[in-house]
Amino acid sequence: MQDFKIKRAKAFSAELEVPGDKSISHRTVMLASLSNGPCEISGFLPSEDCLATVEAMRMLGVSIEVLEENDYGPVRLLVHGVRGQFTQASGPINCGNSGTTMRLLAGILASQPFESELIGDASLSKRPMGRIIKPLELMGAELKGTGDKQTAPLTIIGSKELHGIDYILPVASAQVKSTILLAGIAAKGKTVIHEPAPTRDHTERMLNFLLVKTLREGNAVSTWSGQTPESRDLVVPGDISSASFWMVAAAATPGKVLRITNVGLNSTRSGILKILVRMGVHINEVVDESGAEPRGTIEIHGGKLRATEIGGDEIPNVIDEIPILAVAAALAEGRTLIKDARELRVKESDRLSAVADGLRRMGVAVQEFEDGMEIEGGAVLKGAEINSLGDHRIAMAFAIAGLFADGETLVKDVECVNTSYPGFDKELKQVMEG
Ligand code: S3P
Repeated sequence: MQDFKIKRAKAFSAELEVPGDKSISHRTVMLASLSNGPCEISGFLPSEDCLATVEAMRMLGVSIEVLEENDYGPVRLLVHGVRGQFTQASGPINCGNSGTTMRLLAGILASQPFESELIGDASLSKRPMGRIIKPLELMGAELKGTGDKQTAPLTIIGSKELHGIDYILPVASAQVKSTILLAGIAAKGKTVIHEPAPTRDHTERMLNFLLVKTLREGNAVSTWSGQTPESRDLVVPGDISSASFWMVAAAATPGKVLRITNVGLNSTRSGILKILVRMGVHINEVVDESGAEPRGTIEIHGGKLRATEIGGDEIPNVIDEIPILAVAAALAEGRTLIKDARELRVKESDRLSAVADGLRRMGVAVQEFEDGMEIEGGAVLKGAEINSLGDHRIAMAFAIAGLFADGETLVKDVECVNTSYPGFDKELKQVMEG
């Protein structure tokens, strides 16, 4: 899978299920490893990012059995928790392209009485790590990044004597919040984290499900020392961020009805549904709240899209959906404004510049700002050559744009799709062939 050659869509599926949620899959393996016994994980996402987390935990002495595989890799695992007592890895732990692996793992390693080194690929090695180094140092661990920007490789000298902190997050980041929570359960006293805006709450939910106490009070979340997660089985719902590509494709096709089943519908992640409704899409939602994570079925009724404004506290909720929402904006009538989204500049690529550049290549008028962009919708898209920059969400967003364009769109460097959505190419082929 080198490039995607995209032509106009012939027929979208009427119903589909997407693979397991990436954020939740990482957390199942980490929290199960911290727990006091065996945990079976089902619905696991067999993507490169999540497999990096599995390999990392194995390097730290956790036994992880594969109980079931699909065409892409393991989907059911049995993790033998080590009660938070890991063994030192024999060498650097490779987090690949995965920011979640590197940042959350640093939170776990901060309380281990040994030195660890975390490395990543070229993209991950450019991403800011100062945001986790600072709070973990305040808690008593020693961390060292590389260069002025404190990027990976990252060295962590853990301490058994961590202490809780009261910390105001400078940026709304679920990864940083989770890093501090994971260190917090091994630190003396209480740890409090104040968020500038709500971010995905999978870590808190899963900790609570494993009987570790966390408390949410307004914008603050707290946890307490000395808590070992209880071994319990964990179920991962489908990834709403992966589903979002097909949601937008269906939403922009008048008359189309698409059902997506078994998809995660956690309200800290489902902001895209609200935005699509604002854009004129009719959506039916059936939610099952009985498990640790809400899940359910959504039905998207395609129609004429209209422009909207996306910004403020809504941004962290749709942080991974902005590229595909920008494509939706290009297909909508009117001018869409995306603002307060500066964080997109430090994702797997600079997603603001990648999206603006790609849309312009397809004939869309875009004005890029430091924290967002304005997109003039309604032009007929024209096929173009798009470089994914090795960023999975850019590759998939422009593959969808290509389905609505005149002529052929070539999306280059698409191996990266396997970091979050193995099987995307198969679904795409089906849509193009009808
Ligand atoms: C994630 C949080 C978000 C998101 C990333 C996954 C997580 O990152 O973009 O894909 O699993 O906690 P930030 O915390 O950096 O915003």
